[in-house]
Amino acid sequence: MQPRAAPASQSHDPAMKKISPSPVIRPPATIAILGGGQLGSMLAQAAGHMGYRTLCISANEDDPAARWADHHLIADPGDANVISRIAADVQVITVETESIEPAALAAAEAIGTRVAPSSHVQTIVRDRRLEKGFLAANHLAVGAFRVVESAAQMQQASVELFADGTTEILAKTARGGYDGKGQRWIRTPSQADAAWQALGQVPLVVEAKVDFVGEISVIVARSPDGTISALPVFGNEHRHGILFQTRMPADVSEHTSRAAVDLARRTAEHLKVVGLLAVEMFVLSDGRVLVNEMAARPHNSGHVTLRAASRSQFEMHIAAICGLPLPEVEILRPAVMTNLLGDLWPVESPPAATSVGGHRHPDWATVLADGRATLHLYGKTPRPGRKMGHLIHTGTSAEEALASANAAFARLKTHQ
Ligand SMILES: Nc1ncnc2c1ncn2[C@@H]1O[C@H](COP(=O)(O)OP(=O)(O)OP(=O)(O)O)[C@@H](O)[C@H]1O
Ligand SMILES: [Mg+2]
Repeated sequence: MQPRAAPASQSHDPAMKKISPSPVIRPPATIAILGGGQLGSMLAQAAGHMGYRTLCISANEDDPAARWADHHLIADPGDANVISRIAADVQVITVETESIEPAALAAAEAIGTRVAPSSHVQTIVRDRRLEKGFLAANHLAVGAFRVVESAAQMQQASVELFADGTTEILAKTARGGYDGKGQRWIRTPSQADAAWQALGQVPLVVEAKVDFVGEISVIVARSPDGTISALPVFGNEHRHGILFQTRMPADVSEHTSRAAVDLARRTAEHLKVVGLLAVEMFVLSDGRVLVNEMAARPHNSGHVTLRAASRSQFEMHIAAICGLPLPEVEILRPAVMTNLLGDLWPVESPPAATSVGGHRHPDWATVLADGRATLHLYGKTPRPGRKMGHLIHTGTSAEEALASANAAFARLKTHQ
């Protein structure tokens, strides 16, 4: 690993500090990635081909990112002691999941290593209470919500939201939810208590149902000097609370697209995030957009850039945290990303030598025969609902790419 350059904040040369408050981190510097999932894996791949070295810290030997990082440390990436020990040996630390404790990031910040996103940003994005509070306080458009920390507050919040005219309420655990986990719909105030119990009597954010006409995401990259570049707007379809498909470009008006990018930019500016900020949004029938939630890391919808844009979201994250230029990301061709969940891997009994965790791979030949399709697998053991990989289909239009993607998905299901 490279010896760490003295950070500007610790520089004894005032001129140097003035000229370069956020030094560019050049290859072959080492980037530490906290967390070992597929986002970490694709970050490590991008960093690697950009000439950086990577150290992945994650709990399990066989985590997806471990296959691609130059070094893998099997440890708890949220443990402040672990992060203090490695912080001096790397030039920048980033995260691939909200689960990382902000205290671990603060430990690295304390010794002067660049951490992106910062412990402050990580604190906000991992707790829906702080996230929604931040958005509302900064006049960034969000739907009606309440913070709930007791059974009584749950009752009061649902009475109020129904009185305000909502038809349904979605209760979400403040922490730890992903892919629609930790959520419960409430259809009358009488269901509030059961939802409070079912979600484990933990702090929640409860939201009025948003009657959206579509969902989109805007990913922006922000560098330490405040430069922001927005990726193209993506259109997202969720099934059972999990992202199913992303299309690029999104099927929204120019007006909505501009409003969405503006909202994402303002969110990133208020947050002062360094690296990617992915902002999930609802599109309303009048074209307005509301923020659903945000993530200070690469986002599932951004995978579509891997094969169809001038820069991938992973390259943009690495560039942003290293202080490299952030040019506009162009769409090279319309494309659709389709998630592959573990349900597609049939149980194999008795298990064969080629089976993974007792499951058989779907018949990939049915999708790979199409030259405009690419297959990305993360190397995980299949479980129902688990994100195992994705397909990217390109086309002369997003509609054409969508038709190919849907046909491929249908073939995969029938050839299970
Ligand atoms: N207030 C709401 N009104 C209507 N639908 C909603 C609302 N909140 C969430 N949803 C639906 O549920 C999906 C998942 O919600 P959310 O993004 O909050 O959960 P998550 O578990 O963090 O998901 P992920 O990690 O996949 O982004 C949304 O994309 C949307 O389809
Ligand atoms: Mg979401």
